[in-house]
Amino acid sequence: KSEIGVGLIGFGTVGTGVARVLIENAELIRRRVGVPVTLVRIADLDITRDRGIAISPGVLTTDIQQVLTDPRVDIVIELMGGYDLAKRVILDAIQRGKHVVTANKALLAVHGEEIFAAASRQGIDLGFEASVGGGIPVIRALMEGLAANNIQSIYGIINGTSNYILSRMTSEGQRFDVVLEEAKRAGYAEADPTFDVAGIDSAHKLTIMVSLAYGTPVNFKEIYTEGITGLTPLDIAYAKEFGFTIKLLAIAKYSEGEIEARVHPTMVPSASQIAKVDGVYNAIQLVGDAVEDVVLYGRGAGSMPTGSAVVSDVMAIARNLLKDAAGRVPPASYQPDQRRPLRIRPME
Ligand code: NDP
Ligand code: HSE
Repeated sequence: KSEIGVGLIGFGTVGTGVARVLIENAELIRRRVGVPVTLVRIADLDITRDRGIAISPGVLTTDIQQVLTDPRVDIVIELMGGYDLAKRVILDAIQRGKHVVTANKALLAVHGEEIFAAASRQGIDLGFEASVGGGIPVIRALMEGLAANNIQSIYGIINGTSNYILSRMTSEGQRFDVVLEEAKRAGYAEADPTFDVAGIDSAHKLTIMVSLAYGTPVNFKEIYTEGITGLTPLDIAYAKEFGFTIKLLAIAKYSEGEIEARVHPTMVPSASQIAKVDGVYNAIQLVGDAVEDVVLYGRGAGSMPTGSAVVSDVMAIARNLLKDAAGRVPPASYQPDQRRPLRIRPME
């Protein structure tokens, strides 16, 4: 193959970041992959809006089918978000033998088992690095870098929007609704920001991480989930007075065949490292039995950081395609033969 063709569906915040990374870093990507990786089709509902990137004529379309049926497209990137259409598009791409990259954690947390089973049956690579931690390579850390470990715990801040809101409320006494609007304008929030502030987005991401870490499907509804909507400026001020900072944490702990998994606001000592994770940043501590603790830190949301994660998946799949090998191992969690008798324990 002398070129890898990419089709992008959803040219919003993350889609724009992906296009910019692919275009601005094209030469570096070509060198690292071995051949050019070219954006051949982009579908979006609105193809007239100026995204500040020069796209060649004929690339943009409002018809998703034109991306899925284009013979030049080797890899389909799904960045529309949502459940029904996104799922149909991904399954259709898989049926057509196209490899897939998505950042859609909501979809994977709810329908991941079915999607990964379809990909596995068809020998399709499915990249989802951007689904957790924005630009932080946490999926690769779990699946590759820490693959030799029994993961004992996962702990951290995995929603940029709510951390941004809490940070601004804590440092400047800003109002919740004012800062939420800022997070929306910055492109950090979900289409439905309730997912961010009610802890649902963190629960989606924790579902994916727990599935990978423990090799078992997880029903995200079983994760105890509490968001930041009930917090008042007074709660934050009181915590501060006693030397604590409030953070929305996602926590999973493994012990004797049971996983305890939960998302909720937590008072952490203001002098601790986690209390100093500000704004859109995420921090994730992974503890493995061999490695002990590893902490990953970086931008947890936003156009370019998330674009970086998506393009890293595209490059990994492109390398596999050139080797003519589906080399990216599908996550163990979604393979039925890997089911383990684990059970999510409710919070005590
Ligand atoms: P946006 O809303 O900014 O982008 C989605 C784009 O898809 C919009 O341009 C939208 O068009 C378009 N779209 C919607 N429906 C269709 C359709 N039927 N056909 C074609 N295009 C369509 O969302 P984000 O870029 O923020 O998020 C995309 C995905 O990435 C989501 O799954 C999200 O959870 C995930 N994600 C987002 C991160 C972030 O920082 N924003 C970080 C990590 C993951 P229109 O605007 O006209 O409706
Ligand atoms: N809305 C998400 C967040 C985007 O704020 O963390 C990144 O997954």
